[in-house]
Parts: sequence; C-alpha cells; structure tokens
Amino acid sequence: MSALVEATIDGQAVRVAPGTTIFDAARGIGITIPTVCHLPPQDPVGVCRVCVVDVGERVLAAACARPVAAGMKVVTANEKIATVRRTLIELLMADHDAPCARQKESGDCELELRAQELGARRGRYDAGPQKRPPIAGWRPADDSHPNIAVDHAACIVCDRCVRACTEVAHNFVIGRAGKGNATVITFDAGRPMGESTCVSCGECLVSCPTGALMNKGFGEARIPGTPVAAEALLAIRGPEGDRPLLDGISPKFLAKTLGPIGRNDGAVVERRFRPGEVICREGDFGSTAFYVAQGKVEVAITTPLSRVRNEPGSLRRLALRMKSLLVSEPEPDRDVTPGTTIPIDAPVDLARAHPVATLGAGDLFGEMTCLNFYPRSATVRAVEHTTLIEMLRPVLQILLRSKGFRSYLDASYRARALETHLRSIPVFAGVSDDFIEHLRPRVDLLHVAPGEIICRQGEPADSFFLVRLGFVKVAQQFAGGEVVLGYQGRGSFFGEIALLTGEPRTATCSAVDHVEVVRIGADDFHLMLERFPGVAVGLEAEAARRRERDRAQRALSSAVDVEEFLTQGLMEAQSLLLLDLDRCTRCDLCVQACASAHDGVTRLVREGLRYDKYLVATSCRQCRDPLCMVGCPVGSIRRRETLEIQIEDWCIGCGVCAENCPYGNINMHTFEVTVDDREQPGRKKAAVRQKATACDLCKNLGPDQEPSCVVACPHGAAIRVANPRDFFAQRLGR
Ligand code: CMP
Repeated sequence: MSALVEATIDGQAVRVAPGTTIFDAARGIGITIPTVCHLPPQDPVGVCRVCVVDVGERVLAAACARPVAAGMKVVTANEKIATVRRTLIELLMADHDAPCARQKESGDCELELRAQELGARRGRYDAGPQKRPPIAGWRPADDSHPNIAVDHAACIVCDRCVRACTEVAHNFVIGRAGKGNATVITFDAGRPMGESTCVSCGECLVSCPTGALMNKGFGEARIPGTPVAAEALLAIRGPEGDRPLLDGISPKFLAKTLGPIGRNDGAVVERRFRPGEVICREGDFGSTAFYVAQGKVEVAITTPLSRVRNEPGSLRRLALRMKSLLVSEPEPDRDVTPGTTIPIDAPVDLARAHPVATLGAGDLFGEMTCLNFYPRSATVRAVEHTTLIEMLRPVLQILLRSKGFRSYLDASYRARALETHLRSIPVFAGVSDDFIEHLRPRVDLLHVAPGEIICRQGEPADSFFLVRLGFVKVAQQFAGGEVVLGYQGRGSFFGEIALLTGEPRTATCSAVDHVEVVRIGADDFHLMLERFPGVAVGLEAEAARRRERDRAQRALSSAVDVEEFLTQGLMEAQSLLLLDLDRCTRCDLCVQACASAHDGVTRLVREGLRYDKYLVATSCRQCRDPLCMVGCPVGSIRRRETLEIQIEDWCIGCGVCAENCPYGNINMHTFEVTVDDREQPGRKKAAVRQKATACDLCKNLGPDQEPSCVVACPHGAAIRVANPRDFFAQRLGR
C-alpha cells in the first residue's frame, strides 16, 4: 500500500490515503464544506463549484474533485471563499424558480438552504433566457410520470440525478441535452419521463437537491388496513424466497413515497382474511390491486351465465308481446363462436363451463381495476387464512416498474399464464404443448402507456400481439378522417393482417389506457402458421372478416360534408332509428312495443336530437367509435358482423358499457336470482343482479324481421335507416 498523504486543513494535520479528496478529508476531521452538486458515494463532477477552497494556488479549487496532495495547506473558509461561494449560489439562484415546490412543501431545497446559510441574495443577477433545448415537444414541466414530477425551472443541472441513474442504479435513462443556459436533463434522450424506460427506482428523486424532481404522492387516498412501511415492503421476497420482490428500488425513495410524514399512510396496507371472507365482488368499482403474500383465494363469477332473451308471444303485429327471460342456450344467430374462457383481471382466465379458479402466494390480481379504474371482473374470496398486500395505483406502478417485480411477474406469466392465455383464444386452441414451450422464452411482454401507439397504419409489420390487459384502439385513417374499427381487450389479438399479406399495417393500434400486450415476433408467427395449418386457416378467416368489416365501415364514412351531422353527433351513426314527426301522432306504440319486447323496460326513448322533421330516437346507433366497448372488465360486449352491439351472457352487470354509451342506448336490466347463502351454508337466498341490454334490432325475431318498434308504428313514422347520410341526402337534398 502506498504511503499516506500528509497535509493540513484549516491548520489541522490530516493523513489520508492517496487520491482522497479535500472534501472527504475535511469531512473526516469534522469540517463540512458546503456543496450543491456533490453527493457521496456518487463520483464528484465539480459542476457547481460551491465547495471551492483555497489551496494556495492562483484560483480556488473544487474540494469535491481535488485530491489532497502532500504538504498541501487547505483553507476551507475565509472572506474571499465566502464571497465566491455567495456569487456562485446567486448565479444558480438566478435560474432557479425560488421557492421551488420542494422548498414550499418541506423547506429543504438544498440550493435555497445554502443560499440562506451563505447570505446569498436572490435577484442580484437576472435570469437567463428561458431554457429551450433542441428537443421537439419539450416542456418546462413534465408531469407524465406516475410517481415523479419534473420541473426544469427548478433544475440547476447539477448532474446528481444523471449520476444516480447511471452510476448508482445502472439504468442509463437520464442524460443531458442542450448547451449553456439551454442545458436540461433528459430521459431517454428527449422523451417525456413517463414514456421513457425509467423503472421508477426513485434514485434520481432522492438525489435531486431541489424541487426539480418531486415525489407526486397520493393526495388524500387511503385504504383501510394495516399500513405497510417501506422496510416491510422491501423485505417481501418472491414465493420462492430467493430475492426481494422490489429489487432495484431505492429504500429512501420508497420511504419517501410511502410517507414518513404520514401523508401517504394507507397507500399500501396489509389485510388478513378468514376462510370464506369476500375480498372483492364482481361489478364493484375499486382502485386497488392485491398481492397474495400468503394463503389462497378463489376467483369466481357469480352472476348467472345467461343472456336476457325476448320470447316472442302470440300477437304478431301490434303488440309483439315478448318476455325477458334468463336463458342459457346459445344465441341462435351468433356469428362468432365464443371462446371457452372468460377473460378476467387476474393471471388466469375462467372456464366458461365452470368459472372458478384459485390463486396463491405470489399472485397479483386486480391490476386492471387498479390501473384503469374498471369494475372488478370477478368475486374473490379467501379459501384459507390469507394475507394480502393491497395497494393504490401509485404503489402498483412503483412495483410494476421495479426490475425485480417486473421480471418476477413476467416469469410467472410465461410459466403459468401464456399457455391458458393463448389457448383461450379459439383460433389458437390447437397449438401444441411443445410449440408453447418454444414460445415461452421468446415472447415479449410490453407495457404501453395510455395514448402510445403500438403499430402504425402504413408501416411494415414485424410482430403480432395478444392483449393481456387494458384496451387497444384500432383506427384507420382515410381521406375523410379517422374511423375507429374497434377496441380490443383481454383475450383479443391484432397485427395479423399485415403479417399474413406481407403488406403494410392496415390500421393504427394504440393504447386507450394502461395496456399490456404480448408480442410474438414475425418469425415465430410464421413458424406457428406453418406448423399448425388450422391456426393459419382460422387467422386468415378472421383477417378476411375484419377487412370486410373495415371496407363496409369506410364506405359508410366517405365523402362527408354535412356539418349539422357533425354537430349533432350523428356522424357516428351507421344506422339510426328515426321518427318522422310529420307522421308521428305521439301515440307511443313504438315505445310500448319496445317495452313489451323487453320485459317492460323500453330500450327506445322517443326523444332525442332533431334533424329537420326527423327525431333521432334513442336506440343503438352502431357508432363509428363504439365507446361502449371500452372498459368491459370481462370482455362480454362485442360487435356483430352486422355492426350492432351484442352483450354476451357472462355480462356481470357492472354498467360500464351503459355509462360509456354517449347516447344512453344501453340499459341495465335487473332480475332476481337464487344464490348460495354463504352465511348459512347449504341454504339458498334470493339476490338481485343486473345485466346490460342494448337495442338488438330485434334480430332474434329472424334475419329479415324489422325491429318491433318499426312494425308497431301504425303511421309509418318510425323508420330504421341504414345509411343516414344517403338517406338525408336523398330526402332533404343535402
Ligand atoms: P395489421 O394490419 O397487421 O395491423 C393493424 C391491425 O388492426 C390489423 O392487422 C388487425 O389485427 C387489426 N384490425 C384491423 N381491422 C380490425 C377490425 N375491424 N377489428 C379489430 N381489429 C382490426
């Protein structure tokens, strides 16, 4: 070992190892040198120079970066040094928005504290021109990240976050861009932080000396239960007990996020359940996810798997009496065979024949409710004594971005869910076990933020996608505007057309909310088609169906210029129920016919928008943007080939589709069922459940049958118009 270096600091003798900085040597003898940019154990960079000391040279030296030299006489404080430090701080303060958010919130902005200590006055120097780095779409404030708010106006470009991200966490997300006063920190060289590859480890946030990177907190949200402290959360190991689930997350960040101040107590809690106790019920709204720390839970759909059917009565014309019943036989004119499983918000899907599954330690459920605020897709109850960690969205997002947890979830999906997920899609049912083995390590699991594009119309294709969580919007641009072709939820797939035809993508697919997709590369996709001709035939048929439907929708949407249509929202409609007010005597027989056709609950309301002498009655308009399809937690709403909405019999009655329909055309239908009484095992009790119903154009009466409201109108005033634009163009000459 080389000899120690001897020097003096403020007259005190020091003996330090070669290479020791003046800053560290001084600290070793109890002398604190002020700094802003230096944060051991990060490597010093000497950018703020507030730590300057006098080493007897012509200029002062940065103590954080200058090693102690033999015989050096260091002075860490005198009038000259104080003046220089004050000036440096005043220059930094000129571009710092004081008081910054951190100073306002907790009074510990390091720059502002140093300014107070050194007597630096704000405003001695004018602020430089506003930062304008050469980055398209750059904004001084970036609120895109779920946990961290970025305020470039408070940033002094000290590089602490850059070093934290690079040297400490090895994530390499944060860097710098721009020159001089326009220098800023960047995420993945210029993306909004929320769209970058940031893993939310929080290292940058705990390193930032100012309010430039701030913890967003959880507001007032709290969940009842025993709050889980950061250390307890960090101590949780995966079910194999090998390594901490939250590997890679900064303990300080987590502690800060969960709130020693008490503000965030209740953002993540531990809850214990006895056998049989209900954890959450299908259809209920929620905002939390659950991690099973210990025990076992049963996930089931308890609403009967039946559909509301309208039974035709004996009077054919005026009355067309029909009664709503819950029936379980298949829809007679179904155009697509449904899969054998029901997609739910858990690592498993439920079998339609017996919609019950079990989850155990290490499973996460309720992700979709938590991330996207959809209703619970199933009822979950404890099977044995069970301990769950229940968390709010910001905590789940920290978990999902943590390398350890993410890789644990990914591995668990590959091992346990890929097979059932793939096989739950009817077209892939025939894929062999060995091919699934082949796919297991090769698929990519992608998390896509709301609004992000997954594949773009016109671009070449290299992948095929399965939707695992959330909703993907499929939209096509054409000369007359954009048409939304559909929304794909869990259990659907997209991206097959371009791979099958070798042509560019036919549509743009983007995330409506927090989406997870499974990406299968083009090579594996083609290998699968080669090995399983049945899959190829099924996919070809689905692609042809989609293309045909797209063509029909485009044809309906072309050459538009009826302005009033736009303002009245009728443009969305591909089919309207109109009442000709010149003919209508307000006898309400149409409404009565609809009501009798639907167990006393009309799906037709004789009021609505007016266009010339026509009243646009409230009934399913088969919209161009079928918003009702977004958010169904169990994927039970879909479009028929003929574009009207169909609600499948595993609807759990949560009402999201009815709420999302902008025209109020989906009704909730209540009925009584007999269910097992959990409080008194072996006994039954009556319960009220509901299911959604949409105008079905009375399709069940036969393919050529007019809707009953149209048939019932004695004056010919009620008309169903298949192409409103052509209709109005012809009748009204517009
Ligand atoms: P591809 O053309 O490769 O990329 C865009 C994808 O959107 C396309 O494959 C289909 O998977 C999907 N798509 C196109 N039309 C529809 C539709 N009508 N309904 C659902 N998905 C569609």
